Amino acid sequence: MYILRRNRILRRSPAVRAMVAETNLTPNDFIAPLFITEGNQVQEEITSMPGYYRRSIDNTVKEVKELWGLGLKSVLLFVKCEDALKDNAGTEALNKNGLMQRSIKAIKEALPEIVVMTDVALDPYSSFGHDGIVEGQEIVNDKTVELLAKMSLSHARAGADFVAPSDMMDGRILAIREILEQNGFSQTGIMSYSAKYASCFYGPFRDALDSAPGFGDKKTYQMNYANRLEAIKETLMDIEEGADIVMVKPAMAYLDIIREVKNAVEVPVSAYHVSGEYAMIKAAAKMGWLDEGKAILESLTSIKRAGADLIATYFAKDAVKLLS
Ligand code: PBG
Repeated sequence: MYILRRNRILRRSPAVRAMVAETNLTPNDFIAPLFITEGNQVQEEITSMPGYYRRSIDNTVKEVKELWGLGLKSVLLFVKCEDALKDNAGTEALNKNGLMQRSIKAIKEALPEIVVMTDVALDPYSSFGHDGIVEGQEIVNDKTVELLAKMSLSHARAGADFVAPSDMMDGRILAIREILEQNGFSQTGIMSYSAKYASCFYGPFRDALDSAPGFGDKKTYQMNYANRLEAIKETLMDIEEGADIVMVKPAMAYLDIIREVKNAVEVPVSAYHVSGEYAMIKAAAKMGWLDEGKAILESLTSIKRAGADLIATYFAKDAVKLLS
């Protein structure tokens, strides 16, 4: 017998495998999410996200300097709002001296070149833990959109490079683009959480920000995980409305969606490797059931191979260290 095509030739050694690798991770691929809390010198580990922290602004700036030093280009900011400041109108979200606004300023002052992205949604500020304004049992769309637009403007004024609406209300991208234009922020970008599914994998994140919904769930705004075409519809509409970068979220259970979106659009596609995905790897590694480093690189490479140009991941720093 003689075989004409010997595929194993291309897998013979680490050098050959590296030469023909179709997907390579680089520090440019990652967006590092950061959780910020009030105080000084604060660094609190998040129980359901071992090895991940909530930090005060001073410690956040230190961390961001380290991330930038490692070659990471962008951070995505989330703040933990104090309970006393939560209401049903997002009042604190618009405070120009709020924790988010101060964080943006502090980071941009320390590192003007780093790309600062900010979460835009009401849940951390909401007494109901919902992403929008609540009336009765309903999360009302249009009033929420008005508020999200104002919130985006407030982040832009503080110096955000991209606002990242994660709420899944209808029409918010257009409203945000309009308010930014009307106020001279034509250079501020929008990374839209376009296909965001109602997922159990956000559990640890809601611990981190103490933002779990007080009643019901998020299924009237976040997408049903049974759906595929709806992801394309949502994404194309966000692009028409002015999204610069679109996102699929979560990542690992939605690799098919990432690929379909990537094939359907001409803007950069991001994927959010979410808190529950982080927690699963951490937990298995702690039990000695998985090699953590290998699980991180395989997961992130798969997300990129599926079509993600950018990956928001709590493993951003680990990944860069593993790659170097
Ligand atoms: C809030 C928001 C959530 C996440 C990002 N922005 C939680 C939610 O929608 O309930 C989840 C991120 C993660 O799990 O890592 N709108």
